[in-house]
Amino acid sequence: MKLTIKQTKALDTLEDNQTRELIFGGGAGGGKSALGCYWQIKNRLKYAGTRGLIGRAVLKTLKETTLQTFFEIAQMQGLKAGTHFTFNQQSNQVSFFNGSTILFKDLFLYPSDPNFDELGSLEITDAFVDEVNQVSFKAWSITGSRIRYKLNDYNLIPKKLGTCNPAKNWVYEKYFKPDRDGVLPPNLRFIQSLVTDNPNISKHYLENLQTLDDVDRERLLHGNWEYDNDPARLMEFDAINDIFSNTHVANGKKYITADIARFGNDKTVIGLWNGLRCERIEILTHSDIVNTANRIKSIMQAESIGTSYVVVDEDGVGGGVRDILKCKGFVNNSSPVEVQGRKQNFNHLKSQCYFHLAEKVQKGEIYVSENRTEVRQSIIQELEQVKRDKIDMDGKLSVIPKDKVKENIGRSPDFSDMLMMRMYFEVKKPREIVIY
Ligand SMILES: Nc1ncnc2c1ncn2[C@@H]1O[C@H](COP(=O)(O)OP(=O)(O)OP(=O)(O)O)[C@@H](O)[C@H]1O
Ligand SMILES: [Mg+2]
Repeated sequence: MKLTIKQTKALDTLEDNQTRELIFGGGAGGGKSALGCYWQIKNRLKYAGTRGLIGRAVLKTLKETTLQTFFEIAQMQGLKAGTHFTFNQQSNQVSFFNGSTILFKDLFLYPSDPNFDELGSLEITDAFVDEVNQVSFKAWSITGSRIRYKLNDYNLIPKKLGTCNPAKNWVYEKYFKPDRDGVLPPNLRFIQSLVTDNPNISKHYLENLQTLDDVDRERLLHGNWEYDNDPARLMEFDAINDIFSNTHVANGKKYITADIARFGNDKTVIGLWNGLRCERIEILTHSDIVNTANRIKSIMQAESIGTSYVVVDEDGVGGGVRDILKCKGFVNNSSPVEVQGRKQNFNHLKSQCYFHLAEKVQKGEIYVSENRTEVRQSIIQELEQVKRDKIDMDGKLSVIPKDKVKENIGRSPDFSDMLMMRMYFEVKKPREIVIY
């Protein structure tokens, strides 16, 4: 078996006398599992009577994937099961002819064993954790603390290898980011290996990666670490995607919501709603106040929509449109609306409406009828930017401010603001009047 250039580089660090922790990967199919198994086999054969650990979050996936790669690599190395090594299904352990062993172990932190006492008595020589981003930092640390078995006999230093795909969690914070910024301590290393670094990959594997959705393609094919699910995000990517196919959402009262172009922004976005179905999105470019108001008026006429069912954002230019239409005005920074006489814990109305929108999107209760690819992409991108901001002094819920969103996506989130404003009518439900 001939290692790829990246695998060779990784192996060099695993055999130097400085590196203690290596994170390898950051893309699918880059030969991560293969490298880990290769390193483990090599060490077991080189150092008789030593004990390695191959770990992964869940034992089932460990056996279905990493263990299979292990057998594959062992075979490539000319090792025969039964002759050179045996695998014990009960103890999940591989025993080599020279007395070395490898334990396959799940590293999931069970609530019943939060401190990993189960690992406590274990002594190992080195460890390889596959898809390390799926285990907790604690599990990764404790695994490292168990490395001491026969190190002195062979004059070794403790080494652990973690492989992973891009994930915005502790791997990002503790390895990827410091490495990118050039501040990773010299005994820690990060080496990125992508599918394009692995000439042994099948054509179909590559084709599959190319058909993934945007986020996963960026992460798994291009190894983009910035593209991952941010835990502060209020809506999951899948749930956002579903708004375009949630045709089950019921009809209801009709509304119009509009995000009016501001100074320096040439786009006005008008949404026509039927219940929580956004059935039409109109985009006006370089439209002045009068023209915009006229356009909204004609939709109101055609769809029999009353003035009180129309809301436009009142910040800046929108105020002019509101004055002409005498409709509802949406003031982003106004106080949140009381619901059933109770004060709501949001910093302002916009946050309140975005949190409501997020809940409805998550529950699959919003439908957006939109076929233009570029508009869909913009909507997805903008909804992904709806994130919980740091909790302020009063402990009020808020979304990250528009300036920050603009900085991230390079434009104003006009579509998501239009969708968000629909929630104005949900939080401000008019009093039900019973006539008969
Ligand atoms: N040096 C090599 N020589 C021959 N085949 C290799 C080598 N490295 C990796 N491969 C093969 O390339 C394929 C992908 O490798 P591997 O499974 O290790 O990648 P991975 O990064 O772990 O992928 P995934 O993201 O799917 O877990 C496998 O079929 C593996 O056997
Ligand atoms: Mg793998």
